Amino acid sequence: MTQRPYHIDVMISAKTIAARIEDLALTIRKEYCDTEKLVVIGLLRGSFVFIADLVRELDMNVEVDFLEVSSYGDAMESSRNVKIFKDLRGDIEGRDVLVVEDIVDTGHTMTSVMELLRSRHPRKIETIALLDKPVRREVEFKATWTGFEIPDAFVVGYGIDFAQANRNLPFIGSVVFEDDESAKV
Ligand code: IMP
Repeated sequence: MTQRPYHIDVMISAKTIAARIEDLALTIRKEYCDTEKLVVIGLLRGSFVFIADLVRELDMNVEVDFLEVSSYGDAMESSRNVKIFKDLRGDIEGRDVLVVEDIVDTGHTMTSVMELLRSRHPRKIETIALLDKPVRREVEFKATWTGFEIPDAFVVGYGIDFAQANRNLPFIGSVVFEDDESAKV
């Protein structure tokens, strides 16, 4: 399948992301001040860069685990059916947990993930999303902490992909299709 040509505009720089993560890590550290060991759960694959940077700023004992659920596939519309592809390795019953997500868009993914994880009876469970697109919400969901609220744009970089590309960009950028741009002039 041929891809529509596009370019990427920088939306949030690597420096801005790093500064925000430092602040968020301090807040999280305080929230979990009585936690012996925090279980940090990254939702694959989009959160892999974010979780790596976040845990290195968290000055406390952490365990890292991953959960993979379905999201967009290779298209740009959200799937309504969330399926588990890869479950956690560890047991979270009675544990203090932080769930790390890249983007909250319609809210379906996090709503389903939280329902699943709560059914395993953690002692405490909170959520952090690097990005939030509140105008896209279809089901009510608000992460405990959010890095940045962004408008309704399709974004890539810092772990986030478009059809599996662009995850390795160090910044968050918005996808701009060349034919959309030429339609404007
Ligand atoms: P939700 O279930 O609609 O909230 O979808 C959340 C998931 O959709 C995220 O974890 C991403 O994988 C994906 N997603 C949402 N918006 C974007 C985007 O702008 N770029 C790439 N993936 C996105």
